[in-house]
Amino acid sequence: MKNAVVTGGASGIGRSIAERLRADGHHVATLDLNPSDTDSDGTLALTADVTDRGAVDAAIDTVRERLGPVGILVNAAGMEGHKRFRNLTFEAWHQVVDVNLNGVFHCIQAVLPDMTDAGWGRIVNISSSSAHSGQPFMTHYVAAKSAVNGLTKALALELGPQGITVNAVPPGFIDTPMLRRSEARNLLGGTIDDHIARTPVRRAGRPEDIAAACAFLVSEEAGYITGQILGVNGGRNT
Ligand code: NAI
Repeated sequence: MKNAVVTGGASGIGRSIAERLRADGHHVATLDLNPSDTDSDGTLALTADVTDRGAVDAAIDTVRERLGPVGILVNAAGMEGHKRFRNLTFEAWHQVVDVNLNGVFHCIQAVLPDMTDAGWGRIVNISSSSAHSGQPFMTHYVAAKSAVNGLTKALALELGPQGITVNAVPPGFIDTPMLRRSEARNLLGGTIDDHIARTPVRRAGRPEDIAAACAFLVSEEAGYITGQILGVNGGRNT
């Protein structure tokens, strides 16, 4: 029974992770750019931009006041972008890197003192299967998610002696509002059915599939697993 913070908890994968951790008995706070209605189910829902260090620190202070020290952090907030590289402005590049990579930096630094003091912590970063496969027109996103995998491996070595594990879960093709927005804009490189036909388990992923992996990685019994990149992708990109 720990206090958990889930970023991006107002939608899709983050929302499902927050629900699962709460069902497992943890006290959960979500941190999202958009207001979340999860407050109604007992989850502490905070509105903050993960790229804004002051806002992240203030939100984590609120978690400490309301719930106590943070033992679990799942970084699920993310945004994608689609642009041909030669037309990609530095501003667009920076925004995608800022949310997907710098946001992870800010959130980990904000909660780390609690985990270090406790000599126990669990950090899970939601990266992307595209960090393994590559993805045309998504250089900024793929670069940021690849860096999240690298950060995960390096930080795991640094924090292991302090009882803190750091792992990444790269999802592949999960049916969320983000995926549906890409489908609506014809950015998937085929229909959802085309993708399902290329997926060994023959279905799209569900947010609950990612939540199940996170629930395991933050558990006590996963304490010997750190620095790992656990693909949850129906058998694609492995
Ligand atoms: P989503 O768009 O449904 O949810 C993302 C959430 O992050 C939203 O609630 C949004 O408000 C929040 N967010 C965005 N920018 C933020 C910011 N600056 N500060 C705080 N919150 C912010 O997307 P989905 O699909 O649930 O994605 C969750 C994570 O999984 C993301 O990191 C995404 O990159 C990753 N992912 C998703 C895949 C999929 O197939 N759906 C595949 C690979 C990775």
